[in-house]
Amino acid sequence: MSAKIIDGKKIAAEIQEEAKQDADKLHERGIKPCLAVVLVGNNPASKAYVGSKVRACEATGIVSLKIEMETESPEQDLLEEIDRLNEDPNVHGILVQLPLPHHMDEERVTERIDPAKDVDGFHPENVGKLSIGIDCLTPCTPSGIPELITRSGIKMSGKHAVVVGRSNIVGKPMMNILVQKGDKANCTITCCHSGTDHLANYTRQADILIAAIGVPEFVTAGMVKEGATVIDVGINRVEDLEHSRGYRLVGDVDFDDVKEVAGAITPVPGGVGPMTVAMLMQNTVKAARMIHQSG
Ligand code: GUN
Repeated sequence: MSAKIIDGKKIAAEIQEEAKQDADKLHERGIKPCLAVVLVGNNPASKAYVGSKVRACEATGIVSLKIEMETESPEQDLLEEIDRLNEDPNVHGILVQLPLPHHMDEERVTERIDPAKDVDGFHPENVGKLSIGIDCLTPCTPSGIPELITRSGIKMSGKHAVVVGRSNIVGKPMMNILVQKGDKANCTITCCHSGTDHLANYTRQADILIAAIGVPEFVTAGMVKEGATVIDVGINRVEDLEHSRGYRLVGDVDFDDVKEVAGAITPVPGGVGPMTVAMLMQNTVKAARMIHQSG
């Protein structure tokens, strides 16, 4: 039996279309949702991600501002740029692409963003709200995963979800999302990480296995329960001289191996990646709506 392939591009297009309809409603009220994306330095992967975020804004009816800063820029310059964006009434969402150069403190930068404009959901105020189930802006990558699963006709409530990875961007918010009440969550949760002994003992118990490890093709068939839903968050560049660009993209899951035991699986590329951008569009429209409700 070969797994159902979850089509992230198709589901992302649906969500982006819904965000566009919501943006159109704001346009009718004279509100133009606007996302500011800040890119520091010239990390090629970050440049590519920022490019896709700006293109998605155009397709969704969201105004985008792209702010590029030199790698060597002082942290103070970035903080002042964030202050300007926080105060600009025409800007509804602010995203500082991570990782930042080593001389910058990501925590300090994240905390400088106005929580109402924090479309990444990384500010401690939003992290706290998510953890106690208050409606807020939530991190894009983990927020897209319940959409991928439920829109593929797979039930989540009552299932055992095992998340491998404990990053602040994916693993930890994923746990907070999965444990909430509601049809797109209500899971029993286990979080595994680099300190977990006997990892496969846990992953083999997963009805839903979410891999956010950052190690190419780490999850193999022997780690997966038959029929499980496997969500691959990894995007790793591995050298491949047969490819014109010199590398190919692989996930944290050995796709060809795992698809033979899983019930459903996301591909890389074309799974979680497009969803992150679609959820960012949804968050930007939500931020604009909330700001204009309270303003
Ligand atoms: N770098 C990798 N993923 C993300 C993300 O979701 N948001 C930001 N700002 N940077 C990232």
